[in-house]
Amino acid sequence: MTIATKETRVSDQDMAAYWDRAGRVWVEQQGLLDRMYQPIARAVVDAADPRAGEAVLDVGCGAGATTFEAAWRVGPEGRAVGVDISPALLELARRRVGEAGLEGVEFLQADAQTHVFRAEFDAIVSRFGVMFFPDPVAAFANLRTAEKPGGRLAFACWRGPEDNAIATVPLAAAAPFLPSLPKFEKDAPGRFGFADPDRVRAILAASGWRDVVIDPLDDPTPVSAEELLTMSLRVGPLNPILTGQDETVREKVREAVTKALEPYVTNGVAEMNSACWRVTAKA
Ligand SMILES: C[S@@+](CC[C@H](N)C(=O)[O-])C[C@H]1O[C@@H](n2cnc3c(N)ncnc32)[C@H](O)[C@@H]1O
Repeated sequence: MTIATKETRVSDQDMAAYWDRAGRVWVEQQGLLDRMYQPIARAVVDAADPRAGEAVLDVGCGAGATTFEAAWRVGPEGRAVGVDISPALLELARRRVGEAGLEGVEFLQADAQTHVFRAEFDAIVSRFGVMFFPDPVAAFANLRTAEKPGGRLAFACWRGPEDNAIATVPLAAAAPFLPSLPKFEKDAPGRFGFADPDRVRAILAASGWRDVVIDPLDDPTPVSAEELLTMSLRVGPLNPILTGQDETVREKVREAVTKALEPYVTNGVAEMNSACWRVTAKA
């Protein structure tokens, strides 16, 4: 299997610029995103099984939901460290530590692909934070150096767009009103970069991880119809495209997307499954 490298795809700078913008959207929508994806944070941390007093690293931690989930498990004697490249998300994460009154939580602004870690972690976790590396083999080899011998890895990544209607339905509805739309390029770094489990196995094997297990993980957390629209227009790939359009186009897209989402809404409650993989491995 060919694994995309830095040279053939997107650069580290492109990805940092992408997350500088997208990170601000995730800050704006943190409450909704964390409520929708809380079961995924729990499933990932359950799979890593951190015990009291252990040290856990959360990769691409964003606003820290999974870091906090790990911090509760390791307790005040343990450590939960979140690493991310987005300054805006880390600022929010640090603010939330104080609000949650948690001990043993730290946040680090760094590129997880290249940061020089010490081999001090019992477990590495991630909710949707590991599919964006331009050079995934180098990144996972680097992450392995952060683990103590035999350390555990557990992360969640999305399955393909064909299993995630939230990714495809709004784009299809908006297409007639917009000059061009992004295409989901198979295996490219990004939201669906780890959709193919064989590719994930190949990346982990090439970067020295063992005992890899990949299981489907589904999250049908209900949201309101308005929240589903927010996810479609603000959080998804339509957001940067709509920003450049005039008000008439934006309104037409909003109407079309609202209509396309109607089949997923019953009595104001929307159910749209997030179809993911839960991946575990050992260092
Ligand atoms: C989809 S968001 C998930 C955020 C968080 N884990 C959550 O579930 O709310 C992906 C995160 O990965 C971070 N990220 C992307 N590439 C990274 C890298 N090379 N090193 C560290 N963080 C990275 C982004 O800044 C972003 O916060």
